[in-house]
Amino acid sequence: MNNFSLEKLIRKNIQQLIPYSSARSEYSGQATILLDANENSISVPDGSNNNRYPDPLQKEVKKRMGELKNVQPKDIFLGNGSDEAIDLLIRMCCTPGKDNIIICPPTYGMYEVAAQINDISIQKVLLKENFQLDIPAIFKQINKQTKLIFICSPNNPTGNLLSNPDIETLLNNFDGLIVIDEAYIDFAQADSWVSRLKEFPNMVVLQTFSKAWGLAALRIGVAYASQEIIAVLNKIKPPYNISNSTQQIVSQKLSNTQDLKNSIHTLKQQRQYLQAALRNLSSVIENVYPSDANFLLVRVKNANDIYNHLLQHKIVVRNRSNQPHCDNCLRITIGNFAENEFLLNVLKEYK
Ligand SMILES: Cc1ncc(COP(=O)(O)O)c(C=O)c1O
Repeated sequence: MNNFSLEKLIRKNIQQLIPYSSARSEYSGQATILLDANENSISVPDGSNNNRYPDPLQKEVKKRMGELKNVQPKDIFLGNGSDEAIDLLIRMCCTPGKDNIIICPPTYGMYEVAAQINDISIQKVLLKENFQLDIPAIFKQINKQTKLIFICSPNNPTGNLLSNPDIETLLNNFDGLIVIDEAYIDFAQADSWVSRLKEFPNMVVLQTFSKAWGLAALRIGVAYASQEIIAVLNKIKPPYNISNSTQQIVSQKLSNTQDLKNSIHTLKQQRQYLQAALRNLSSVIENVYPSDANFLLVRVKNANDIYNHLLQHKIVVRNRSNQPHCDNCLRITIGNFAENEFLLNVLKEYK
């Protein structure tokens, strides 16, 4: 059993903060003339409403997401990408120069960067060689100042899901927040932790519209958690963090999920195809790791050399060789059929 208390976890200055509030959001009636926010009421170029600030709480998007994911809109936070949620979670719980977070490399780089920007120290507990969590080592690292543990499942850059019993052990025994980053969950053979939100008051699940939904340019990410945690995130976010256009496009997408299903299906087919084709290139490739994500981690004979060879043919992949357990590893995003074919041909030419 843990001794989780949100009140103890949230920084005092955040608890005491009086958030920014607009006149419009304080008024519950139906206003017809809006002269409160210094917008441009004169030159309205088209019927888009883009002269007005967007809904700060993105109610329509959350209503539709709530229906799709079977959660209450109050349990949903929307950020300018899930990167914004990562930053806000750190700022919400960690006092600069005092507190720390735990991350488990090799993993997504922004947890460390966001902590560094906020002057929060980082305790690293490497994944084991099989890319699973080292639970005893994590518990050894936890101290009074540890406020958050970030885990990424499926993990970037390794592509694998982390074991559910391991995650559950953390949730049940850590007094701070466990942040489960599910950016790639739509490509995985697994249920999301979102379905277990009610069981774990110290769990935050991150998802994003940048991957399976194909909306990276719109910058919208999601945090699911108890309504108490979500209320704090809403209190500290910039008031208008999701643009009008983004809210409109995402609302439309949410009302028809067929495109999403089709693109996940095609991605999985391409993943299987690329995986098999790369495994056949044994003169260049040493190992293609299994993947529950939209990329493959590939161990090659000489990562720097092959990386440069690909660049010469104008193909950019991610060289992850300097990450722990990832010597000579490239992370390759699954492309469309033509891109994957081109990549394979360029690799075949490598001497
Ligand atoms: C694991 C993980 N989390 C979060 C993100 C950031 O997503 P967003 O585009 O929503 O900021 C990424 C982006 O690559 C990622 O790999």
